[in-house]
Amino acid sequence: MRCIAHRGFAGLYPENTLTAVRQAADRADMIEVDVRQCRSGDPVVIHDETVDRVTDSTGVVADISLATLQSMDVLETGEGVPSLEAVLRAVPDDVGLNLELKEPGLVERVLELLEEFDTEILLSSFDVETLATARDLDPSVDRALIVDSSSEAAIERAASLDCTAIHPHWRLVDFALLERAHRSDLAVNVWPINDPERATEYEKMGVDGVIVDEPAACR
Ligand code: G3P
Ligand code: MG
Repeated sequence: MRCIAHRGFAGLYPENTLTAVRQAADRADMIEVDVRQCRSGDPVVIHDETVDRVTDSTGVVADISLATLQSMDVLETGEGVPSLEAVLRAVPDDVGLNLELKEPGLVERVLELLEEFDTEILLSSFDVETLATARDLDPSVDRALIVDSSSEAAIERAASLDCTAIHPHWRLVDFALLERAHRSDLAVNVWPINDPERATEYEKMGVDGVIVDEPAACR
């Protein structure tokens, strides 16, 4: 079962920072980060629509320049909001990156940037249109549909988007979902699992990966 570090093991390191990415790389098979665009359209790594929760500043990410974002203090680390390019440079070759695309307008710039790197990439999104655009622009980059409410149509939707995986919230996962997903050749990466015992239970059920805040949930 693959261990995917949620926001770079946000339970242990400051979420979505270069420090988190570098530290998480020691224990994770893949690192999940959240991607948005700044004023110039450059992709940056931050979860929320605004910088208010995680920086010493305020404002909407999409209205702020890259230089200003990079000069902010994220979670008292002294580090700025990283560009996606910096994150790609920080990830070692043997660790994958799961880029959660938080906005539909991002796809083209992200795919352009990825051309310069050999990193294993899994694009994911709650948004079907975003995944459809990614598939149409470059079908060779793996995609996953994230699901947090009813999973009823999720497998068909993910399959119709030629995804390689679905990322359901743990509440939605049971043997029936796993069986249906695997029959459609979709890996199932479950989030968020932080208790090692529960991670083991999910592994026994046949889950392919867990997206976790705590490295203790990974073996
Ligand atoms: O990709 C799973 C998870 O990251 C989605 O939720 O809000 O942590 O980005 P969130
Ligand atoms: Mg995320």
